[in-house]
Amino acid sequence: MNKIRILLLIFLFLPMLSQARPNQTKTDFDKLAPTPPMGWNSWNKFGCNVSDSLIRQMADNMVSSGMQRAGYEYVVIDDCWQVARDAKGNIVPDSIRFPQGMKALVDYIHGLGLKFGIYSCAGSMTCQSRPGSRGYQFQDARQYAEWGVDYLKYDWCYSEEQSAKAAYKTMSDALKVCGRPIILSICEWGENKPWEWGKGIGQLWRISPDIRDCFDCEFNWGGVGVLQILDIATKITQHAGPGHWNDLEMLEVGNGGQSTEEYQSHFAIWCMLAAPLMAGNDLRNMDETIRKIQCNKEAIAIDQDTLGIPAIKYLTINDIEILVKPLSDGGAAVLFLNRSNTKTALKFDWAKNPVYDDHFPKGAFRMGENYQIRDIWEGKNVGKTDKPINLTLEAHEGWFVRLSK
Ligand code: GLA
Repeated sequence: MNKIRILLLIFLFLPMLSQARPNQTKTDFDKLAPTPPMGWNSWNKFGCNVSDSLIRQMADNMVSSGMQRAGYEYVVIDDCWQVARDAKGNIVPDSIRFPQGMKALVDYIHGLGLKFGIYSCAGSMTCQSRPGSRGYQFQDARQYAEWGVDYLKYDWCYSEEQSAKAAYKTMSDALKVCGRPIILSICEWGENKPWEWGKGIGQLWRISPDIRDCFDCEFNWGGVGVLQILDIATKITQHAGPGHWNDLEMLEVGNGGQSTEEYQSHFAIWCMLAAPLMAGNDLRNMDETIRKIQCNKEAIAIDQDTLGIPAIKYLTINDIEILVKPLSDGGAAVLFLNRSNTKTALKFDWAKNPVYDDHFPKGAFRMGENYQIRDIWEGKNVGKTDKPINLTLEAHEGWFVRLSK
C-alpha cells in the first residue's frame, strides 16, 4: 500500500474514531451477570396494563417486602410501554401511561438502589404490535443508555426472515457501544437453539415457549407449565454458566394458579437449574407464604452459587425425580421432586447412590459421603447422609435440601 493510500485511509477513519463513545468492552459485557439476574417483570401478572405508577409501586414493594435485601435487583417493564416513533425515528413511550417520561421513572428506580429493565423486539413490531427495534437497533440502544436502562429483554415476534443469531448480535453490538452497561436478555423462545450461540451475545436466553401459571400443562398454541420447562432445561444444562444463563422464564409464584407445594417446587427447580429469578406476581399484595418462598435466602443462595453449574437429572424412582446441583463449598443441593399427581413414598440410600457426571467438576462431592442435610424450606438441619431416608411427598411436592460437610 503506498503512502497516499494510507493517509487517505487515516483521513477517512479519523472522524469515526474521534466520535466513538465510551464503549463497553467484551470483558465488561461478560461480567454483567456473574450469577443469574434477579428482579421482577410486569408481563405475567399485568400484560399490557403497565404504567409509571404501577412500576413505581412494584419497585417500592420490592424494597419494603425484603425482596431487594434477598437479592432482587432489576425492575423490568415488558411490552406495551411504547406507542410510536417520532419523525426522527426515536421510540415514543405512551405519554398517558408514562406522563413523566422514561427518564424520570428510571431515576426513581435508581434512587431506590434498584436497576431498570425495558423490553423491545428484534422484529418490526413487538408481540403486542408496538414498534419493534428492527432497523433502529443502534438508535434505540443509545436512547436506552440516555434513559439509564440497565437491562433489555429482546423478543422475537414479527422477526420475518431474519437469522436469529444475526438479529440478536446486531442488538448486542448496539448495546456494546451505547455507552452504558446493559444486559441483553434474548427472548426467542428457544426456537433457534440460542444456548448454542448466545454466549457473548446476551447474558441469558429463553429456552421455551411462554410459561403458564400451572405445574404440568401444555397448550397447543404454545404455553407450557413448570414441568415442561424443567424437561427442556435439563437437556441443555452444559450451555449455562457464569455470565450466560438458560432462562427458564419469569416466575409465576404467587399468581394464584398453583398450590403452595407447587410454587415451592417451581421456585426450587429454578434455583436448582441456576435460572434467572424474575418474579412475576403483584408485589403489593403478596401474602406471607409467597413472600417466604421468593425471599428464602437459602434457596436463593443455591440459585446464585458462584460455581454456576445447573443441576442434572440424577435418578427417577417411583415418579420422584432427583436433581443434583454441585455447590462452590464442595457440597450439593438436591431436590427430590414428586412429578406425579398423587402422594408418593421413597426410601433413598445416599451411600448406594454416589453422583458421577461429566458436567460436574471431578470429585466435587459424592452423595454417599457423610454430609449434613439441611432442609431448605424448613430452615433446619435434619440429619446426615449416613442413614437412608424415608420420604413421603404430596403431589408435585419437592424435598429441597443442601448437603454440606
Ligand atoms: C412474548 C414473550 C413474553 C412477553 C410477551 C409480550 O410472548 O415471550 O414473555 O414478553 O411476548 O408481548
